[in-house]
Amino acid sequence: MSKRVLTTESGAPVADNQNSASAGVGGPLLLQDQHLLEKLARFNRERIPERVVHARGSGAYGHFTVTDDVSDLTSAAFLNTVGKRTELFTRFSTVADNLGGADAVRDPRGFAVKFYTEEGNYDLVGNNTPVFFIKDPLKFPDFIHSQKRDPFTGKQEPDNVWDFWAHAPEATHQVTWLMGDRGIPASYRHMNGYGSHTYQWTNAAGDAFFVKYHFKTNQGIRSLSAEQGQELAGKDANSHQTDLLQAIERGVHPSWTLYVQVMPAAEADGYRFNPFDLTKVWPHADYPLRRVGRLVLDRNPDNVFAEVEQAAFSPNNFVPGIGPSPDKMLQGRLFAYADAHRYRLGVNHTQLAVNAPRATTADNYGRDGLMAANAQPRGEKNYEPNSYGGPTETGTPLAAPLAVHGHTGTHEAPAHSKDDDFFQAGELYRLMSEEERARLVANIAGGLSQVSREDVIEKNLAHFHAADPEYGKRVEAAVQTLREG
Ligand code: HEM
Repeated sequence: MSKRVLTTESGAPVADNQNSASAGVGGPLLLQDQHLLEKLARFNRERIPERVVHARGSGAYGHFTVTDDVSDLTSAAFLNTVGKRTELFTRFSTVADNLGGADAVRDPRGFAVKFYTEEGNYDLVGNNTPVFFIKDPLKFPDFIHSQKRDPFTGKQEPDNVWDFWAHAPEATHQVTWLMGDRGIPASYRHMNGYGSHTYQWTNAAGDAFFVKYHFKTNQGIRSLSAEQGQELAGKDANSHQTDLLQAIERGVHPSWTLYVQVMPAAEADGYRFNPFDLTKVWPHADYPLRRVGRLVLDRNPDNVFAEVEQAAFSPNNFVPGIGPSPDKMLQGRLFAYADAHRYRLGVNHTQLAVNAPRATTADNYGRDGLMAANAQPRGEKNYEPNSYGGPTETGTPLAAPLAVHGHTGTHEAPAHSKDDDFFQAGELYRLMSEEERARLVANIAGGLSQVSREDVIEKNLAHFHAADPEYGKRVEAAVQTLREG
């Protein structure tokens, strides 16, 4: 093998990589030492802004195979034939902590999938929870500020976490979920993924359906108790990264089965829950699961920075046959992600290998910007319409239109007949076994008892009482015991 020569960024050979150039032996260094200057300057620029949420995560490549015919529901080409296989990239993450945070903590987990379909990239940016804490995107920055590190103490504060929830009764369902047994997954392989929002599918005839995505883990659900999580997070902050990396390197390829719940569009208005309220689930008795296919992860990225840190998932990357619902949270997210990518990675982030379409090409009139790598060939026009055979629109809408009515204004989401902030939280509590309830109550009390203000504790207790009287009583008693102890 021929010896590789070390070069500068501009390709010139480097004479000495051990000693900087100095004015005489033991003298000060020389400004003309290009290799030293470039090496130090380059090093200073290695970090980019971390994600404002979901900063800490792990990625893997894989594929999705259609197992069941869903062509009656969506015209999406990657789903249109049983047996069809689509390459994909996933990133799992924790939400609240910064890039160096531990994996085995009580926190929702991100479950983001980028399908490289023949009609462009389809990003499904979900969580391991079927619901979320809030239902209006206007509250998201406040919510996240309350859960991340406090600007004064520099750490997560139970006072802030629970103060936000005291003012957000709609969070009671998700808080119950998070404090329950699934709140600390044993690994990324042992948790489900959910689109959480309602999305719209449109079939070839133009019929519209509302769908909710469920990725069920084929490894089985496995979670950690509060004590196990604390111990593991202290021993190995990277436990979930290690698990995913090593499983795939060993050839143990994790998989998930994708199901959808399907609601014909005409049923949305009359359903007893607002189907576009992210704090609610659709009970399976109302809308059963229909199987779609299987997701398998089989390859680790070669470079964490290039492929995981620079991965950019956006809920507004749709393909024909799939579109948004009027869920306000989803609508807010349609803006937030690509904006974050332009800030974090730059306007040309879609040219990076992990983000670029693979089974098709991007062909449009977007041009230039910082770090534009894909220059168009000579003579290619940069305006449309043109007379030179440039790309043109299809004239076919991607999804069925949504009906709207009423007046503009800062409206609350419409309440359907069974909608309130507590009913489904109570249902979740009542579904739990006695052992699960006891652990849930202990987890909540462990956090809530650390809150310094009585009024904040009272407001939170009122939410648990409203969900289920027994639930409220038990949390209240457990908090009291811990505060007296
Ligand atoms: C209005 C509400 C929300 C806003 C404004 C918001 C905003 C953001 C932003 C700005 C990022 C960082 C993106 C980046 O830098 O690449 C992010 C990441 C993420 N969000 Fe949200 N988010 C919201 C709600 C949600 C919900 C409800 C879910 C799940 C159902 C979710 C799942 C994720 C995931 C999985 C990531 C990490 C994606 C990755 O791995 O790169 N977010 N969010």
